Amino acid sequence: MGNLAITGGKPVRRKPFAAWPAYTRDESRGLQKVLASHNWGGYPFPNRIADSFARNFARFHGAQYGLAVANGTVAIEIALKAASIRPGDEVIVPAYTWEGTVGPILLLNAVPVFVDVDPETYCLDAKLIEKALTPKTRAILPVHLAMRFADMDGIERISRAHHLVVIEDCAHAHGGKWRSKGAGATGDIGCFSFQSSKLMTSGEGGAVITSNLEFFERAQSYTNCGRASSTDQFGHRLIGFNYRITELQATLLEAQLKRLSKQQKIRQANMEHFERRLRGTPGLEFLKRDPRQTRVAAYQYVFKYSPEHFQGVSRSAFLGALEMEGIPCDGLFYEPVYKSALFPVNPNDHPALSWGRSGPLDLKSLYHCPVSERAAYIESVWLPHHIFLGSRKDTDDIADAVLKVCENIHELAGLKHPAIARKAMSRAERPRVEKRQW
Ligand SMILES: Cc1ncc(COP(=O)(O)O)c(C=O)c1O
Repeated sequence: MGNLAITGGKPVRRKPFAAWPAYTRDESRGLQKVLASHNWGGYPFPNRIADSFARNFARFHGAQYGLAVANGTVAIEIALKAASIRPGDEVIVPAYTWEGTVGPILLLNAVPVFVDVDPETYCLDAKLIEKALTPKTRAILPVHLAMRFADMDGIERISRAHHLVVIEDCAHAHGGKWRSKGAGATGDIGCFSFQSSKLMTSGEGGAVITSNLEFFERAQSYTNCGRASSTDQFGHRLIGFNYRITELQATLLEAQLKRLSKQQKIRQANMEHFERRLRGTPGLEFLKRDPRQTRVAAYQYVFKYSPEHFQGVSRSAFLGALEMEGIPCDGLFYEPVYKSALFPVNPNDHPALSWGRSGPLDLKSLYHCPVSERAAYIESVWLPHHIFLGSRKDTDDIADAVLKVCENIHELAGLKHPAIARKAMSRAERPRVEKRQW
């Protein structure tokens, strides 16, 4: 019997962390009101609560216009469509992100161009973008990943020089700020997700924010089956879909927007305490905090574990042991999209991949992004935000557990255990063993 829980010792923590999503009487009252109003859906569009929430959400981030939609994946599709991305256009995306950042580009028969991420932030590396530009490039789609922002100064410089649209994927960045401007308001359009694990959630949901009225009008039409937008100054007509959010969802989001800043402060204080506890531990490294990111929105706390410093013990073994100590954690949270099993791209479905070429672009074999690959398969550790929403004691448990696993790493050498096997599974395989994420 060892010291670690995975080898038979006593776990640091048996008590579960507070549940996520969380709610208060505000959500309950809001839901009751919507039920009693008999006005549940997204039509007439924009519906009352959805519209007022979207305006407040946009204003909160420093944008003029906001639209609440069905989820974060369609928010990206709507943004691409609003920016008139057309078949064959190329869109720069970070290789290391959720597949939902990239799928909408292909759905519109446009072409994603993968660029590696910065090892300091795990976000799109602005220094590499220029090499990836071609005459077909129309947009840059940075993702503010986990707890950091992409270098929006560098991205803005390139986009201005080459007349490109910037669409920010802010699925992780509710309330975050770059140079005192809210997520999604530095670029041309910002997209958010309100899926269950996110910093604000209505179970599913999304938002698009912008200060460009023409983009906003196109976004509204696309979301509302092609109908004219509420202002219709540009008179665009396009084939649209029903991507509306319901009033039941919007009322949940209204309540959560009021709590976001308070939660952000608690999370931030606990994460800083966690970092102070771990700083100086050989083999662990933190992502760099860029001073231009003036408010951190941390969807997940991410740090680096170097197996090379821990007798070659893999990250899955480290994570399996950490989870057995009572700390929810993940490593293969994302993969470089081009390598992911959730990205089985078939060129027959996306004709633009073949246009002007002797054979189709093979997105699965064309790319090698070493920083993304190391982050995904070797070193990144992801801790969900809600475990940092509790007490100082909760945070100390997380730090104690990490340090305990590091100090007893020798117990993991050569160990086989179902918890370790689970941590080595890709997100495509996991539904077999996981019923519920949180
Ligand atoms: C970075 C990123 N982009 C896009 C999405 C898509 O959002 P949704 O799950 O709401 O469709 C997500 C959410 O999982 C995400 O994490």
